[in-house]
Amino acid sequence: MNYERKIAGFILVASGLVSACSPGTGEGLDSNGNPITSSTQPVALRSDFVSIQANVFTSNCALSGCHTGASAPLGLQLDEANSFVNIFDQPSSEDPGSILIIPGDPDNSYLVRKIEGTAGSRMPKDLPALSPQKIQAIREWVTNGALGPSLKSIQRNVFTPLCTSCHFGLFPAGNMNLEDGLARSNLVGIKRPFDPEIRVVASDADSSFLIDKLEGNNLGGSRGDRMPFGGLYLDQGSIDALRIWIDQGAADN
Ligand code: HEC
Repeated sequence: MNYERKIAGFILVASGLVSACSPGTGEGLDSNGNPITSSTQPVALRSDFVSIQANVFTSNCALSGCHTGASAPLGLQLDEANSFVNIFDQPSSEDPGSILIIPGDPDNSYLVRKIEGTAGSRMPKDLPALSPQKIQAIREWVTNGALGPSLKSIQRNVFTPLCTSCHFGLFPAGNMNLEDGLARSNLVGIKRPFDPEIRVVASDADSSFLIDKLEGNNLGGSRGDRMPFGGLYLDQGSIDALRIWIDQGAADN
């Protein structure tokens, strides 16, 4: 639900930009003149999970009778509640020796091979191939580590490379250790040592202090600085992967 609100928020901002450039055309408004906020509206094609979910998995794969629901072929559900944990570092059911998404390695990722038609029958089955732009977005996302809403992927792409230079060891920065195997128990349901904020409130990204620290919301004073400390902040597409992970329950997945 929060995930949809996030998408809707993104579209609101995007449509605001459009109407700012072309006042009076009604672009970005529905037939009643209200801003379009439905999550079925287009999201710009980018090489991040939120965009790929909207532009590929939701619109080309999780169609009725295909990769959604209990009867999805080979159990592969690609709707927004299920897709990521079903593909990231997961074996293919069709070819159990292959992995669907291998972070950093699009050429050997079975899902990429399926949409490019180099393994078994090409997907989407019996429909036109995905556009080269969509395939390229997926390739880039996989090359960059395939960040998405699972702890494993967030650890690999965010916490380990960008946070553990400070948040490690017996006396970690902020008294919070984000090393592999420790991050979740330092985050979920944990109150800051001297302040009331909870670092990660499971199923509620908006109330999670971690998200404020990454987005730079209302910081300063006892709430400290934006993270990662020193700049090189995460882009919104990356932060949204953490938001979805939290909104989906911040599981050990
Ligand atoms: C260069 C060192 C450094 C890096 C890199 C860094 N942090 Fe921090 N972090 C700190 C320091 C110092 C504090 C305590 C002061 C503050 O909150 O501003 C802190 C505090 C925090 C807190 C608040 C903890 C609490 O309970 O008060 C969060 C959340 C946090 N960092 C998240 C992150 C995340 C996520 C990353 C990686 C994306 C990251 N940090 C990278 C130095 C760093």
